Amino acid sequence: MNINDLVQGYTSGRVAEADMAAWLEEVYRHGLSFTETLEMTQAMVDSGKTVDLTDLGPYTADKHSTGGVGDKTTLIVAPLAAACGLKFAKMSGRRLGHTGGTLDKLESIPGFKISLSPNRFAAQVERVGAAIVGQTAKLAPADKKIYDLRDRTGTIASIPLIASSVMSKKIAAGAKNIVLDIKTGRGAFMKQFDDARELAETCVNIGKAFDRNIAALITGMDRPLGRAVGTALETAEAIDVLRGGGPSDTKELSLELTASLIRLSGLAKTERQALSLAESRVADGEALTIFNRMIEAQGAEPGITEPGAIPLPDESASVKAAKAGMITAMDTEEIGWALKDVAGAIFEKKTGDRVVAGEVLFRTYGDPGETAADRVAKAITIGPGPVSPTPLIIAYL
Ligand code: URA
Repeated sequence: MNINDLVQGYTSGRVAEADMAAWLEEVYRHGLSFTETLEMTQAMVDSGKTVDLTDLGPYTADKHSTGGVGDKTTLIVAPLAAACGLKFAKMSGRRLGHTGGTLDKLESIPGFKISLSPNRFAAQVERVGAAIVGQTAKLAPADKKIYDLRDRTGTIASIPLIASSVMSKKIAAGAKNIVLDIKTGRGAFMKQFDDARELAETCVNIGKAFDRNIAALITGMDRPLGRAVGTALETAEAIDVLRGGGPSDTKELSLELTASLIRLSGLAKTERQALSLAESRVADGEALTIFNRMIEAQGAEPGITEPGAIPLPDESASVKAAKAGMITAMDTEEIGWALKDVAGAIFEKKTGDRVVAGEVLFRTYGDPGETAADRVAKAITIGPGPVSPTPLIIAYL
């Protein structure tokens, strides 16, 4: 049976779960050739509907991150890309494991609706320049069913399966220009750089085979991105960046991802020009204006991005350094798990920062039992240093 028959057969119930599981285990152990990986991607695209954005022209754009802790860049890249002339059309997911999900963050904006019909989605992208909605079950339904089986059979961590899963959804969602943020390090699913690079290369090659303009950044996830981790706190931090403030790492990564989309689409000739276009659209307030239009088009009240308007959780604990030194490591995955069921945390210090005894390391929010605070504190190592933290952007593909 070829890959397409297997995938369509399993999705419709004609192929037994045990047979699909056996095939997944085989792939998990021995991999797939690139041709087979393409067949797998095509089969999952063909299993459902696709969004046709061709009427919107050549500047449609999408972004995908493999998942991190504190990564709120989609909230910034969407309106910023639109402010630079792109049409940003993204279907996002919910949190996966220890990593946060864009939809959960957007839902911290009162009134925001994550579901739009495909027609309203495309119309909003055309009119406002950006829309972020929940992934519809009609796109690549085979991926959903197969992902669920991979989860139950311990076959998630396979590069061809991850690449075809991610890219089938990107291809079905229709954008011409795609930037990928492949995370690596302690808070990423790909702990090793070599695995992240192989995944990035595979995804980029799939995108090219489907005639997309595509680039990937491999970025460090050895510490949370920005200072805020947690839905409403991250949304507020993203708005700070759109106002021209916010933490420098979050701002830099958002600008670089947007600049990649600008370059891919041909709206700027050089990386330098693309970056400077993106910087000026933050500085002149256009990115924030489009963010407001985007969220208002999806149900938010006008004025909700004014300082203090988004309801934020109450601070529950403030954890101080027990000794002086340098933060030499943050177990970022453990931090993600520890904060999973609470409102979040704001980090005053991160890996590479010097601390004096008694200085505040982080504050937690909405954790009455203080268990999250204890777990996060244990995940932070203070030593004599020095330490050189992993760079924010490790490679461009
Ligand atoms: N995210 C996806 O969409 N698919 C995978 O296989 C893994 C992470």
